[in-house]
Amino acid sequence: MLYSKNGFNQARFRRDIVGINKRVPLAGGGYKTYVNLDNAASTPVLRPVLHKVNEFMDWYSSVHRGAGFKSLVSTHVYDRAHEIVGGLVNADLKTNGIVFVKNATEAINKLSYRLGFTRGDVVITTMMEHHSNDLPWRLKAGTVYAAVDEKGALDYKDLEAKIALHGSRLKLISVSGASNVTGYKCDVARIATMAHRAGVPILVDGAQLIPHSPLDIKPDGHPEHIDYLVFSAHKMYAPFGTGVLIGPKKAFLRGAPEYTGGGTVNIVTHQLVEWAGIPDREEAGSPNVVGAVALAAAIEYLERCCMDNIEKYEKGLTSYTLKRLGEIKGLKIYGETDPNRTENRVGVIAFNLDGVPHSLVAAALAWEGGIAVRNGCFCAQPYMLRLLGLDQHQLSRLIHKKRTGDLSGIPGMVRISLAAYNNRKDIDRFIECLGQIKNMARSGELAKRYAFSQQTGSYYPRDVKVDPAKAFKLS
Ligand SMILES: Cc1ncc(COP(=O)(O)O)c(C=O)c1O
Repeated sequence: MLYSKNGFNQARFRRDIVGINKRVPLAGGGYKTYVNLDNAASTPVLRPVLHKVNEFMDWYSSVHRGAGFKSLVSTHVYDRAHEIVGGLVNADLKTNGIVFVKNATEAINKLSYRLGFTRGDVVITTMMEHHSNDLPWRLKAGTVYAAVDEKGALDYKDLEAKIALHGSRLKLISVSGASNVTGYKCDVARIATMAHRAGVPILVDGAQLIPHSPLDIKPDGHPEHIDYLVFSAHKMYAPFGTGVLIGPKKAFLRGAPEYTGGGTVNIVTHQLVEWAGIPDREEAGSPNVVGAVALAAAIEYLERCCMDNIEKYEKGLTSYTLKRLGEIKGLKIYGETDPNRTENRVGVIAFNLDGVPHSLVAAALAWEGGIAVRNGCFCAQPYMLRLLGLDQHQLSRLIHKKRTGDLSGIPGMVRISLAAYNNRKDIDRFIECLGQIKNMARSGELAKRYAFSQQTGSYYPRDVKVDPAKAFKLS
């Protein structure tokens, strides 16, 4: 056992991160060890995951079709990976299918095609969604958004009212497990109960939840059962191109899959097609067995650490970060700001520094401190606009600016997102750098050292001598 059940060996987890000691160039010359606080976008890979992939490559071969021994090994590994993924969330594999796709976005899109909505059908989602859990529904059904409050937390009363309003036209409730902007965690058990009371299934977008929090989707028929779940391997230490869609097998038996071809059928004649079972019918073409190995290895690693330990550790670090951010005057945090209220959140924190554009803060963190964060709207524009409190006039101005290619002054935020390998030293370095950036902004030095690019909407240091294109060469 690498980890005792009562403790989480954080230092070991950190050492297991590939590239954790990588040094990156700074604007003024010199190098610093990279601090990655952009885990909500993608996490780095775990060394044991990479080792497992390398070990597997000796056995790599075609899946499901070859008679050779390596093909048999690859097929076994690929099938077993589905079971390991199902086991992570306690899915009943007799009745539920585990479908591998490319990422969470593809998983939601696939489901949106497979649910076969017809005119008049309604999907309820929320105001806090990533575009990936919004746009696919808009194209297939009437899409209704449950409200959030000024802190970005879901308004359950509004959700209840919208469920009642749409009655039998309602076909699905689709919610984020955790927000990629505020880190706010929905009570998915409560929403599942509301959905089932109304006779509809629930989808949980677990992209920001599954890597940070244990989730039991509960047995079929349980009031809190999560009918559909999606997530991405690249956000959980296995960036090899796999996404997951879990759902009742029977939901995929209706009609044809949206992608058809090799691997999806049992029988084909020119007169007849009989589709294969689940997951094969939903995984057209040669599957990504390497990605499946990586995801299974990451899950086994996280389960050995124990997801409860990971969650507890990340909450402690989030609390520490909020406390330290609270020391900086002129900083506005969106969402829950109380360091003692981490029960309904993951470690995603969005903020703005008074008077300094979000894109300038992000650039300066990268080039002054070697610290990676993200800025902008994080593919959640409606939620951002709500949190920023933009009125209709400001919104129209924004739309006009974007349409005319004027990317200056576009509203947004800076986002940090924590993972279990981050530690207090990472946070201290980030806070120290943020303080320096604030001082540099005040003294006018920041404006002197950074230039705005109208083309990209980003700031770049004027005197930087390092070309990122030269850091890693493909050939
Ligand atoms: C909440 C949420 N849902 C969906 C996605 C889309 O994930 P992917 O890019 O892996 O498809 C993201 C990505 O950041 C996300 O944060």
